[in-house]
Amino acid sequence: MDIYAIYDEMRQQAPAWQAPWGDVYITKYDLVSSCLVNRQLSHVPPGEADADTQRSAVNDWLMYQEGRAHAAIRQALQQPFVGNGMAALAPVVAEAIDQLVTKADLSGTVDVVAAFTRAVPERVIGRLLGVPAEDMPMLHAWSAAIRTMLDTGFDEAFSSMPNATDAMSAYFTELLRGQLAAGEMPPLLVGLPALADAVGLTVAGRNIAFLAFAGHETTVHLLGNMLFHLAHAPAQWAALRADPHLVANAVAETLRLESPVQKICRWPLQPTALDGQPVDKEQMLVLLVGAANRDPAQFPQAQRFDVSRPGKQNLAFGRGAHVCIGKALAEMEGKRLLEAVLHRWKSIEPVPGGARWMNNSSIRGLDSLALRLVA
Ligand code: HEM
Repeated sequence: MDIYAIYDEMRQQAPAWQAPWGDVYITKYDLVSSCLVNRQLSHVPPGEADADTQRSAVNDWLMYQEGRAHAAIRQALQQPFVGNGMAALAPVVAEAIDQLVTKADLSGTVDVVAAFTRAVPERVIGRLLGVPAEDMPMLHAWSAAIRTMLDTGFDEAFSSMPNATDAMSAYFTELLRGQLAAGEMPPLLVGLPALADAVGLTVAGRNIAFLAFAGHETTVHLLGNMLFHLAHAPAQWAALRADPHLVANAVAETLRLESPVQKICRWPLQPTALDGQPVDKEQMLVLLVGAANRDPAQFPQAQRFDVSRPGKQNLAFGRGAHVCIGKALAEMEGKRLLEAVLHRWKSIEPVPGGARWMNNSSIRGLDSLALRLVA
């Protein structure tokens, strides 16, 4: 199934398309962009704000908060990324890439997802959150479960029945308790003592679990998707080798063309209309970032992977009050990984049948990507 052909069809037929099951899908860049900053569209699924105490850990995720609760958690989580914060994170990124790419025993045909595009962001987030190495397989398993849960919809995510986020949150709450007792916070958790005081350990732990998931599951796919497109576009690869300054563009172009986060949901606080389509209060709006980023009205030859494309604003990290807090870290991982790959291999070539895309409507990425790596 070519999801992008479906997006194109929807954009041409009705940029705000009401599905028979009631949800409204938005595919046009301008519309998605304005919805992302529209304060009349809520981030909180209807009925969830006042749910009882049995509620799922997902209810407390930063992404589903509004107003003061959102501001308090966001301020704590974004502390490491502001000012000179990134300088402290850079050595962790460099070390992971050095170990898993530059110095790794890799030659011939390699599944790069298994070898390093998943392992690098996993290791980075693990180190930055202070997760012991022996616990990393649990993070890997939780992430796979949450990815699937986000694909199937909100019912399970917000259900009071236990799901993967509960076990993961309990783990991070305990980890945080130990870190607070030891008085030593890992780089991404410098703002957590104040947050734990303000909202309690449980909500803080739930948000570290969210940070652990959001902070690597997305970047994994940026790296894999980027190598997929470069392997299939030898002229673009050659352009990068000739001019390494294009590395940042290659990252931005991958985020545009193959956005790891494909959709973002919102719920109107009042009845409204989008592109002439009436939308009820609380009717689910599905903002298709993956479609907006391929809107030909915004990006000429939108289906083409072009590392020299002028860096027009794409929506891969969202916009507005909830814009991604980890953008700089994800971009750093993308750039450093690409530099290491360009340095180590003369060419990266696709092998027949070597790419297996995930079957997931929320997250776009590869389960495996076999490439011939030529030194
Ligand atoms: C290529 C990698 C990434 C992509 C494509 C991505 C994408 C996004 C998008 C689209 C949103 C907005 C969601 C919304 O408006 O509802 C978001 C929010 C968020 N992202 Fe990222 N992200 C990436 C990497 C990261 C990293 C590395 C971190 C942290 C280490 C991170 C942490 C977060 C958090 C905490 C939020 C919630 C912000 C809020 O609700 O205020 N992300 N991300």
